Amino acid sequence: MFKTIKNINNLDDLQKLYSDTFGKNGTMAVRLKEMKSLNDAERVVLNKEKDEFQNAFKARQTELEDAAMMESLAPEKIDTTRTPAPTPIGKIHPLTKILADIGRIFEGMGYVQAAGPEIETDWYCFDALNIPPYHPARDMHDTFFLNGIENVMRTHTSGIQIREMEKHGVPVKIFAPGAVYRKEMDATHTPMFYQYEGLVIDKNITFANLISEIKIFFEKVFDSKEIELRIRPSYFPFTEPSIEVDIEWDKTTGRPSKNTGVWIEMGGAGMVHPNVLRNAGVDPTKYQGFAFGQGLERLAMLKYGVNDMRKFYDGDIRWLEANGF
Ligand code: PHE
Repeated sequence: MFKTIKNINNLDDLQKLYSDTFGKNGTMAVRLKEMKSLNDAERVVLNKEKDEFQNAFKARQTELEDAAMMESLAPEKIDTTRTPAPTPIGKIHPLTKILADIGRIFEGMGYVQAAGPEIETDWYCFDALNIPPYHPARDMHDTFFLNGIENVMRTHTSGIQIREMEKHGVPVKIFAPGAVYRKEMDATHTPMFYQYEGLVIDKNITFANLISEIKIFFEKVFDSKEIELRIRPSYFPFTEPSIEVDIEWDKTTGRPSKNTGVWIEMGGAGMVHPNVLRNAGVDPTKYQGFAFGQGLERLAMLKYGVNDMRKFYDGDIRWLEANGF
């Protein structure tokens, strides 16, 4: 009998066995009705049998109910041994990275960081830099004008040259990174982009100093001794002479390399024009120096192998995940 109970695997069959035993005309029910006709010893045996059966029934019922409950709970199980999903950690945008990198490099070279306003007056953005209103050089920049023509979104960081010389006088050795604005948009131009400006004014500063500073800077930026510069004559109203600087590049490795014959334009530079020094209150017969400037996106694109400048500003988190630091 107990073996039968143990072998029953669902509550319905168990219930049926119980009814067959204790129900009306059930095997045990019939025997219990006969209790009166039994002697004491026989009654004890029968009662014991009845109790044991009921206990076995109860035990099996509890087992089957527990099993049914566990089965229904199984899908809701929480695995407390599972490693929690990592907290998402953001990445550093390549432009933020290049800004930090060049900051560290310039400071290591003895330059002090400077800044200026992004909404700039005509005077600092153009006139003081030897670009008077009628001058065709103003057409070199596609300017966003504000409030008529008196204020502009600065088209370059060169105005900071004037502001810094006015504020701190000379000698001066600064670098100034910052956002600049021009009406242009394609794979290599965005309406807002970053530039940095470098300015060194002292007595006895020469063109040779300019070239060597630029070379050292690129050696540090690209962590390479393979920097070959090409200097081309150019024109900026605020420098005289003016140059454009290229570096030699290996397209397969994506690194600076000598003797490839492939040149990439990096930025503009030159000896600061005497009019610019005068406009900033500096005596050009006593002081001279150089300035240089470059787009930071160009630098980041070359250093990190990004080919579309607009990617920097798409705000695409997947791109940042793949290209950030
Ligand atoms: N301001 C120039 C530009 O935006 C770059 C430049 C800076 C050139 C300093 C010479 C000296 O193109």
